[in-house]
Order: sequence, then structure tokens, then C-alpha cells
Amino acid sequence: MSGSVLRRLVFLVVATRECSALVGRTSLPSARISVDTSITYQEVDGLGASQAFQRAEDVLGKYGLSPAHQAEVLDLLYSLDKGAGFAILRNGIGSSNSSTSNLMNSIEPLSPGSPHTQPNYTWDGYDSGQFPLAQQAEARGLRTLYGNAWSAPGYMKTNDDENNGGYLCGVAGEHCVSGDWKQAYADYLVQWVKFYEEHGAKVSHLGFLNEPQFAATYAGMLSNGTQAADFIRVLAKTIQKARLDLAITCCDGIGWDDQEAMMAGLQAGPDPAEQYLTVVTGHGYDSAPTYPLSTTKKTWLSEWADLDGDYTPGVFYDVDGPGEGLRWARNVQAAFVQANVSGFLYWIGAENSTTNSALINLLGDEIVPSKRFWSLAQFSKFARPGARRVEAHSSASLLYASAFRNTDGTIATQVINNATTAYAVTLAVAVEGGGGKLHSNCVVPYLTDNAHNLTALAPVVLARDGTFQTTVPARSLVTFVSS
Ligand SMILES: *[C@@H]1O[C@H](CO)[C@@H](O)[C@H](O)[C@H]1NC(C)=O
Ligand SMILES: *[C@@H]1O[C@H](CO)[C@@H](O)[C@H](O)[C@H]1NC(C)=O
Ligand SMILES: *[C@@H]1O[C@H](CO)[C@@H](O)[C@H](O)[C@H]1NC(C)=O
Ligand SMILES: *[C@@H]1O[C@H](CO)[C@@H](O)[C@H](O)[C@H]1NC(C)=O
Ligand SMILES: *[C@@H]1O[C@H](CO)[C@@H](O)[C@H](O)[C@H]1NC(C)=O
Ligand SMILES: *[C@@H]1O[C@H](CO)[C@@H](O)[C@H](O)[C@H]1NC(C)=O
Ligand SMILES: *[C@@H]1O[C@H](CO)[C@@H](O)[C@H](O)[C@H]1NC(C)=O
Repeated sequence: MSGSVLRRLVFLVVATRECSALVGRTSLPSARISVDTSITYQEVDGLGASQAFQRAEDVLGKYGLSPAHQAEVLDLLYSLDKGAGFAILRNGIGSSNSSTSNLMNSIEPLSPGSPHTQPNYTWDGYDSGQFPLAQQAEARGLRTLYGNAWSAPGYMKTNDDENNGGYLCGVAGEHCVSGDWKQAYADYLVQWVKFYEEHGAKVSHLGFLNEPQFAATYAGMLSNGTQAADFIRVLAKTIQKARLDLAITCCDGIGWDDQEAMMAGLQAGPDPAEQYLTVVTGHGYDSAPTYPLSTTKKTWLSEWADLDGDYTPGVFYDVDGPGEGLRWARNVQAAFVQANVSGFLYWIGAENSTTNSALINLLGDEIVPSKRFWSLAQFSKFARPGARRVEAHSSASLLYASAFRNTDGTIATQVINNATTAYAVTLAVAVEGGGGKLHSNCVVPYLTDNAHNLTALAPVVLARDGTFQTTVPARSLVTFVSS
């Protein structure tokens, strides 16, 4: 990282010069961003991604990443000092009977014959690379390890296959000659968590479905809300009996609307399954997170990515392409502000590919962090787990604002400027309990745009009128952080 740190310092100097060269501040259009920390919203759990389907192995050198660069990628993803400080990692709980190709192998690859027969669990200490990766992430400060099964093993399902849809045997309307596998699946998931814990990685959250609306050719399992609820009741009792400190999530619906459609089933009946959940999870593919789900539980946007667009790692804004940085900065911001999420997970963190499905591309031994990565980092680094989102208002329609107050009292305000011109911005921060005043008299702006990657600019000092007078460049994301 020392090379990158050095590069960043050089850019700080350049950026400062650029900033002071903007003498025409008075000729710029102006806007006021008002932050009010007395109006508080949801708590932040954090941002992150997954390394499932053997993408963990890419980070561990499968395609030529050297040990030094493996450490650098892990730092970029999980270190708060050296990178984005991602707080959440989503590991796939494998259902495959092998780990060939990109399959995630199961801890119970062979059927015990019946749901009542003693299972033969096996632990390989590797879990398709995800276990050592989780340990590395936790060593760098990861808070939340989310274990998520895409499917139960095939022998527990109506179609006797981990792929191509099928239901868990024993949920509403789904019966199998082999019997009811709900308890066996709950035991199986809990055993995966225990293997992690016994070998030194703490799992905090557990999910048992992925995109249950969709019969994929790869691992996946169908479910509606009622059927998910049937299983959640069994899983909750199993976790309680095992005395594990483990939160249950559901249901990783393929789109936000699909997850919303599952809520009624989760809330129905005399023993509503929703009460056993800690987080409701949904993806952004078929429909984006633009409204709060119908729940009082925390919610996470637990997977989303550009899967089709042109490979544009270095573009923050060009043609508003689907993988561009500004688009993703706004996706994150809108999820927190409009959809009330507590977590935001891109699909893959880092992988050896030239597509936009990861935040960081690995090209053999080369590391290419995309602008999407820096966009997520502008939130992850400064709105830490435990922070509260607070009220932020922008007077200009092309300037989007959000703000968070951290548990240590620091306030991070993100401003996205989607105009073709810079704005002269008056940032006014009213602080609850501080006589309405911010306790620090300066904020540090961090800038990402086409030319900058999370570059610290010169601090802005509080003006006499108690506001910060600053500039937000065209087509950029600036996070203002109070000290
Ligand atoms: C392993 O899983 C694949 C795909 O689900 C299946 O076709 C195959 O029969 C399984 N092999 C064994 C030995 O169970
Ligand atoms: C349990 O599974 C492991 C690996 O899958 C296998 O080597 C072992 O023979 C099995 N034990 C029994 C009792 O079936
Ligand atoms: C889910 O499917 C089951 C079985 O077909 C059905 O009984 C139940 O009413 C469905 N639930 C919802 C919420 O549609
Ligand atoms: C936002 O989420 C919190 C849980 O984090 C919940 O208590 C609150 O009701 C939600 N607000 C809205 C408007 O849905
Ligand atoms: C910013 O990141 C992009 C994408 O990795 C890269 O092409 C560019 O050289 C970086 N710019 C700076 C200033 O570091
Ligand atoms: C890994 O990345 C390198 C460089 O882009 C590429 O040549 C190679 O084909 C990739 N390997 C795989 C298996 O994707
Ligand atoms: C930014 O502006 C472009 C047009 O200049 C538009 O296509 C795009 O949707 C805007 N993005 C956001 C997040 O508003």
C-alpha cells in the first residue's frame, strides 16, 4: 500500500492547488446543504460485498495475485486505515457435492438417507476460500459476517437438485417421499456456523435463501413468504437451543419489490416469523431500493451490481453507464435515504475479471479498484457501524445530500453533484446538544470524480456565520467529515 498512499499524498497537493484555483467561486451557481442531527433515522450496520462462488480464491491468488497484492486487496476492502473498511462480508453456505469450477462445496455433500438419520458433517477448513478470507477480513476489523445459503443440498429438496429451483421438503404445500427436512436444514446451517466459530471466525448473521423467486441453473431454492416463515420458526428454535448469538435474515429477494411481496407471509399467523428476524434482506436487480420495506426490522440491500454493462473501471461519469461511479454513489445514497437501509452490499468485492460485477478487478497480478469501489468507500469509511443517519437537505435539485452521525460524534455528509458545473456550497450543520453548533471548527472534504479517488482536500474552516463555504466539483462525490 505504501505506493498507493504516496500517490494519494501527491494528489492531495495537486487537488489543493486545483481547489484554490477555483477563484471564480462567486460566479458559480450556489446551493445550501443543511444537516440537522436532531432529526435521526436508521442505524448503520455498514457496507460490503461477497466473495462467494470461489471469488475468495481469486483474492487468495488462484489467478496469479502475489502474496503482497493479496494483502493489498484485503486492506483495500477491509482495513479502515488503508481502504474502504467494509464492515459486512457475505459468505455463501455451499450446497454442492464438490468444489469443481466455481461450486461451493457443502459440509454434508452426501445424503444421510433420511432427515432423521445422523448426518455426517465434514469441515475442510477452507470453505471454497471463504473461511481464510473471513479470518483475514475479521483481523482487519470486519464487524458482520453474513452466512447465506443459496440452496439446501439437493437431497433436502423437492427436485432432488441444488440447482433449478425446487423447494425445501416440508414447507407449506411441498411434500417429499423422503420426509420433512426443515429441522435437518436448520441443524445443517447451525453446524456451518459452529464450524466457523470452532475454527476462529465469528458469524453474526445467517440467511437460508437467495433470490427465491427465480429457478436459476445454479444453486438456488424457491420460496414464498409463508414457506420462508415455516422454516424461520424452526431455525429460530434451533439457534436458541444451540445458545448461539446469531441473527436471522430473510429472504434476499431478487428485487426490492419481490422482497416487499414476501413481507405479508413473514408477518402472517399467530406466530409471525418476522419477530425472529433481525434483518430483512433484498436485492436491487429487478427493482431498486427506493422505498422502505414494510417492516420495523432493519433492512439491507444485500446484493446488487452491474452485470451487463461495458467494463469501465476508471469512469466516474461519462455517459451515465450502468457501471459508472456516480450511478453507484447515488444508488448507495438513495438506498440509505429513500429506502431506509442499514446495510449496502455490492455483489462481488474483488475478482479476476474484466466485468463490472466486482468493485475491484484483478487482472492476473494487477489490482484495479473501480470508481464504484471509491464511491462505496466514501460511505463505508466515514459512516461507521452504529452511526445514525440524520436529516440532510439540499437546496439544488442536481445536488444530492445525505448525512450520518457516528458514535464518536463525527459527522459525515455526502454530496453528489450531478450537474455539469461546480457549485459554491454553503454547508450548515446544526448539532443537537452542542448549543446547535458543531464542536469542531473544520471539515475535511474527500473527493471522488473522474480524476480523483477518495482524495483528501484541504480542510474547510468554519466561517463567521457558522457555516462552511466550499465548492463541490461538477459530476463528483464529496464527503465532508467533521473532526
Ligand atoms: C453431485 O451433484 C450434481 C449436481 O447437483 C449431481 O448431478 C450429481 O449426481 C451429484 N453426485 C453425487 C455423487 O451425488
Ligand atoms: C463422512 O464423510 C467423509 C467425507 O465426505 C467420508 O470420508 C467419511 O467416510 C464419511 N463417514 C461416514 C461414517 O460415512
Ligand atoms: C405460499 O405457497 C403455499 C403453497 O402453495 C400457499 O399455501 C401459501 O398461501 C402461499 N403464501 C403466500 C403468501 O402466497
Ligand atoms: C427504518 O428502519 C428502522 C429500523 O432500522 C425502523 O425502525 C423504521 O421504522 C424504519 N422507517 C421507515 C420509515 O420504514
Ligand atoms: C483512480 O482509479 C482508477 C481506476 O482504478 C485508475 O484508473 C486511476 O488511475 C486512479 N486515479 C488516481 C488519481 O489514482
Ligand atoms: C484472470 O485475469 C487475466 C488478466 O485479465 C486473464 O488473462 C485471465 O484469463 C483471467 N483468468 C480467468 C480464469 O478469468
Ligand atoms: C445525472 O445526470 C444525467 C444527465 O446529465 C442523467 O442521465 C442521470 O440519470 C443523472 N443521475 C442521477 C443520479 O440523477
